Amino acid sequence: MVAVKDVFVAGGMPKVTYVSRASLNLERDLRREITEGYKVICVTGPTKSGKTVLTRHILGVDTSAKVEGGHVKSSEEFWSLLLQDLQLPIEHSIANSSENSASFKWLISASTKLSEGETVKYNNLNKQSILKYMIKNNLALVVDDFHYMPTDIQKEVVRALKSAIFDGLTAILIAVPHRAFDAIGVEREMEGRFAHIEIPSWRIEELKDIARQGFPALNMRVDPSCIMEFAKESNGSPLLMQRFCGRLCQNYDVHEKMSYEREFNPSDSVRVEIYEGVAKQFGFPSFEKLSKGPQSRSRRIDRNLAGGGGSMDIYQAVLRAVSMTGPKEKIHYNEIRDQLKSLLEEPNVPQKHEVSAALGHMSGIAKDGIEGEPVLEWSDDYLYITDPFLMFYMRWIQRGDAAK
Ligand SMILES: Nc1ncnc2c1ncn2[C@@H]1O[C@H](COP(=O)(O)OP(=O)(O)OP(=O)(O)O)[C@@H](O)[C@H]1O
Ligand SMILES: [Mg+2]
Repeated sequence: MVAVKDVFVAGGMPKVTYVSRASLNLERDLRREITEGYKVICVTGPTKSGKTVLTRHILGVDTSAKVEGGHVKSSEEFWSLLLQDLQLPIEHSIANSSENSASFKWLISASTKLSEGETVKYNNLNKQSILKYMIKNNLALVVDDFHYMPTDIQKEVVRALKSAIFDGLTAILIAVPHRAFDAIGVEREMEGRFAHIEIPSWRIEELKDIARQGFPALNMRVDPSCIMEFAKESNGSPLLMQRFCGRLCQNYDVHEKMSYEREFNPSDSVRVEIYEGVAKQFGFPSFEKLSKGPQSRSRRIDRNLAGGGGSMDIYQAVLRAVSMTGPKEKIHYNEIRDQLKSLLEEPNVPQKHEVSAALGHMSGIAKDGIEGEPVLEWSDDYLYITDPFLMFYMRWIQRGDAAK
């Protein structure tokens, strides 16, 4: 039986709806770098663009050991997580290993200690033992969300990898911004033993492939114009596309492959319901942080809405005005000002310097107060919205509220 949740996988590893984006040659490039070996491979791309999925697809789970950068606060933690992921088969290894060196014995005893909850001390020698074990067993090292690790640990890891890579270790470091690697000078440190695979944001046709592979597997024939609209509303994010398709099935109470083929032509209201429902789950956390503005002791002025019906502070009003532009990816101050004029009562409309200051503060929050790449940026009278989920939230919840 084919279940919908195994076809449209939003947030996990898709199989039926895995899209290779063949024209980009991402698989071929990553495979080539791995085959060549003797290098550190950096995989970068926008948030939720498929970095983990691509790496997992090429590498599989049995040929690598993985550390999640988001869980690492200290150097000890990095090596402990790696050792835990290696799951050394204790007795088997000792009995069958031709290597009976002190370092190998240390590995076994350290992993036993860890599994019993004890802490283990690491020095350069035993870090190298872990990496040697990986080389010997042909295991690649994958550090996912590398950018979440503190900078000093990123540097330490890269330094520790250097000689292991010379000896044949394959290391794949995954991060959102390319800057993460520039900042700590990985390329310089690795001198010609550095490869970069960049995953671009998704094009409409690639997003449509998710639907084109998934619906037929469930015996569903869905109106192509609906699939087109889903792809456009995804703002370049395969995660949103997967979610829309999954929700469409739910909407028609389809939970598994149907016994015969059926046609579906979702109405406007069905599609809007899907968008509004999905928007509530994505984008809200960053929107909320932005709309609170910076912490300050003084109370902000309440600005009355035009036509009565309540008030907003400047952060809420500016974000609402931005949403009312569409929102677009790049918005000039004048457009925001025009929307503020229609949103607020005349004497309450903020001055340019006030709007600019509020957007400047939001830019700061986006940079330092929200994890990952900044979701928006205010620069030279232009606002750039760079996060597909924030964009989607503003479009379907904020703009919708403005119209009510
Ligand atoms: N090649 C693909 N084919 C189909 N769907 C995909 C593909 N890549 C990603 N997706 C969808 O997007 C979701 C997010 O993918 P993934 O976790 O790999 O992104 P990421 O770039 O690693 O995100 P993060 O920045 O959070 O680490 C997947 O769970 C899946 O729903
Ligand atoms: Mg990931």
